[in-house]
Amino acid sequence: MPSMLVTGGAGFIGANFVHHVLAHTDSSITVLDKLTYAASREALEGLPEGRVRLVVGDVADPEVVDPLVAAADAVVHFAAESHNDNSLRDPSPFIRTNLVGTFTLLEAVRKHDVRYHHVSTDEVYGDLALDDPERFTEATPYNPSSPYSASKAGSDHLVRAWVRSFGVRATLSNCSNNYGPWQHIEKFIPRQITNVLDGTRPKLYGSGENVRDWIHADDHSSAVLAILERGRPGETYLVGADGEQDNATVLRLILELMGQPADAFDHVTDRAGHDLRYAIDSAKLRRELGWTPARGDFREGLAETIDWYREHEAWWRPHKDATEARYAEAGQ
Ligand code: NAD
Ligand code: TYD
Repeated sequence: MPSMLVTGGAGFIGANFVHHVLAHTDSSITVLDKLTYAASREALEGLPEGRVRLVVGDVADPEVVDPLVAAADAVVHFAAESHNDNSLRDPSPFIRTNLVGTFTLLEAVRKHDVRYHHVSTDEVYGDLALDDPERFTEATPYNPSSPYSASKAGSDHLVRAWVRSFGVRATLSNCSNNYGPWQHIEKFIPRQITNVLDGTRPKLYGSGENVRDWIHADDHSSAVLAILERGRPGETYLVGADGEQDNATVLRLILELMGQPADAFDHVTDRAGHDLRYAIDSAKLRRELGWTPARGDFREGLAETIDWYREHEAWWRPHKDATEARYAEAGQ
């Protein structure tokens, strides 16, 4: 039974990945997670004990990281500070976790010659015009806008340098916006769902014309697993499910699915430096590795996600007031 070290496995996408790997492989998993505000132990409860263990620790701490990497057959690195709005308020944890954390892991996989997969975002490419016929590809130049996306861009560059200079066996993936269960309620879709459940009006930044390319977290997981198992070392793969939607349309769909009037939301202060549009061309991943998304029906996935938040109020409720208080300070 191969053993995997999954960093950030108590976060949104990492936890979905842990569930996916347990269901589709015979791997055992060690999760390394600092359990920041974004993590949930609950997401890892009820999993087979012999196959998953949680180590609470910091990816930027070499004394924690080194022995865990030495004992693993592969490392999949999800751990990050992940929210753009937080990075605008205080960039410092983004620099430490996303840059120093990745550096620390790279030094350990180099020392112990362990296979490494780096999970990143399409936001490293900056944004596209609304009417641009092109989408992001693996050849798009890096042009990050926010402290978050700049820190992820820097971490990608570190990985490529460790591949080229030290022969580290690494792959990278840059994925579009994820949605699904266990996503922190600071993010767009769960924030609006829980606002409606809470009797509060949803909040749309600016005009709402900004476009995101939505993918279900389970499809992101299947892509990462395919790249880990069959991807070519040194290569980057873009992950997306052809799910472009503008924010106003997504919000109106949430309102419709939750039985609310289409105009029952507020326009609030726009995000500073707000990227206009992200769009992924995932042809390389589909062609080389035969990957296709299984959860491509956005309306159906969103309806399931709404049900999930309805059923998991005990999980998100304790975080709602503090999350909204942070937004209120910024007029959002
Ligand atoms: P998240 O914020 O929900 O979870 C991050 C996890 O990392 C948390 O469990 C947190 O406790 C842990 N963590 C943070 N700092 C740590 C540290 N120093 N040491 C150990 N653990 C630490 O994030 P997410 O949305 O699940 O994103 C996971 C990864 O996927 C990130 O690398 C992110 O850049 C990338 N990504 C996210 C999206 C998206 O739509 N959310 C899209 C593409 C790529
Ligand atoms: P978010 O979930 O923060 O992801 P990202 O910044 O990585 O794209 O935001 C998704 C989109 O939704 C983005 O264009 C900002 C917008 N947004 C709102 O309109 N209202 C909100 O309350 C939030 C949190 C985001």
